[in-house]
Amino acid sequence: MNEYRIAGGRRLQGTVHVQGAKNSALPILAACVVCRGVNVIHNCPQLSDIDATINILRHLGCKVKVEANTVTVDSTDIVTDHVPDHLMQEMRSSVIFLGAIAARTGNASLSLPGGCEIGLRPIDLHLDALRKLGAQITEEGGHIYLDCPQGLQGNVISLSFPSVGATENVLITACVAKGTTTLVNAAREPEISDLADFLNRCGARISGAGEGIITIEGVSSLHGAEHIVIPDRIVAATYMIAAAVTHGDVILQNVIPAHIGPVTALLQESGCDIAVKEKKLRITATEKLRAMSTIRTMPYPGFPTDAQALMMTACSVANGTSVVIETIFESRFRHVPELCRFGADILVDGRIAVVKGVSQLLAANVAAPDLRGGAALVLAGLAAEGQTVVRELQHIDRGYEAFESRLCNLGADIRRIEDEKTDG
Ligand code: EPZ
Repeated sequence: MNEYRIAGGRRLQGTVHVQGAKNSALPILAACVVCRGVNVIHNCPQLSDIDATINILRHLGCKVKVEANTVTVDSTDIVTDHVPDHLMQEMRSSVIFLGAIAARTGNASLSLPGGCEIGLRPIDLHLDALRKLGAQITEEGGHIYLDCPQGLQGNVISLSFPSVGATENVLITACVAKGTTTLVNAAREPEISDLADFLNRCGARISGAGEGIITIEGVSSLHGAEHIVIPDRIVAATYMIAAAVTHGDVILQNVIPAHIGPVTALLQESGCDIAVKEKKLRITATEKLRAMSTIRTMPYPGFPTDAQALMMTACSVANGTSVVIETIFESRFRHVPELCRFGADILVDGRIAVVKGVSQLLAANVAAPDLRGGAALVLAGLAAEGQTVVRELQHIDRGYEAFESRLCNLGADIRRIEDEKTDG
């Protein structure tokens, strides 16, 4: 058993420090394989996905030291170009190592990441892009084998969809390709800019990150560097919506307001007062949220798909009806049946959910279906009257550092009940 017990109905108040961005730290740590030498990465969140990435780095031959939120990666010696299945399966986004290993060694072999709770998660865009850079890739028995007989050459690559992961794989690989690469229809998420900033500190020559067209001038090799990971915009959104659904008054420290514009706009539309000052944001929630207009998930700078489940919890207790349209992933409504166990009134048809706000959610016993859906259920438990139980916490542990202690510091009554550790 590994579950949260939440006594809901308490107003959140106080200050919370927002962790470093998981989706920035993961590609940056993978990129250390190419940045030959000592890399010191600060503001790394302590998460199971980070642990999984560190396990792969160590398997590849890197020396990794973790001191609180600073991870030091010495990638001087890389001893293999193969990642075994058991390490690949620990985390879906480990496909980011494909480009890093190929860029460092010229070869790579690892298992296909496979789908996950929110969709099939194909990697065709990654593979097509790497082929454009000179990689020869075969897929056999659920494994990918990559080699670059003529090395890596720069090229013009146009993505049919601004895939975050494919953009990251191209950035990391093209840095040390011969010649220039132009990436068209690149993802524009802040995590892409953070990765490019890190790579440029390591000697790369990337320009245009954060826009739709990125240019990478290949260099012969990259060296180690020091970097501070940007704040996690989805975790920031999580604490903002926790304040909103509990009529709270919360100050977030370590946020970049420009990264969460669409979330801020919707919460202001629902009646919350939000004030920003440099890297601080204060949200004061109104007694009763008003229903928001249509929430349509889009690539950045649109409304983030990772905040969709979280915002749906807010819609569930708002006055009126909201429409949520999930345009990025094909099965990212698995939190809906669990929210309905709290008494939420939600109708789903394909990628559209119609959410009729109810006056009060009632405590429920629910299971986290995935990372952000699990966080959305915790928020529902904070808002609901009575004792809520949220199970399957391994999903939430992938993305939220010290979640329950930070919520307790804001006045929530949430306890984690662990399995009795049995010896032997
Ligand atoms: C990243 O996933 C994030 N993960 C996801 O966050 C996030 O939801 C997603 O970007 C979108 O913002 C990390 O950064 C580790 P995509 P990624 O490639 O790179 C399709 C979280 O909760 N696609 O932009 O996998 C794909 O099926 C996680 O922290 C292809 O068809 O996202 C999806 O429909 C969940 N072929 C869409 O593109 C490909 O080769 C977006 O995927 C690649 C993607």
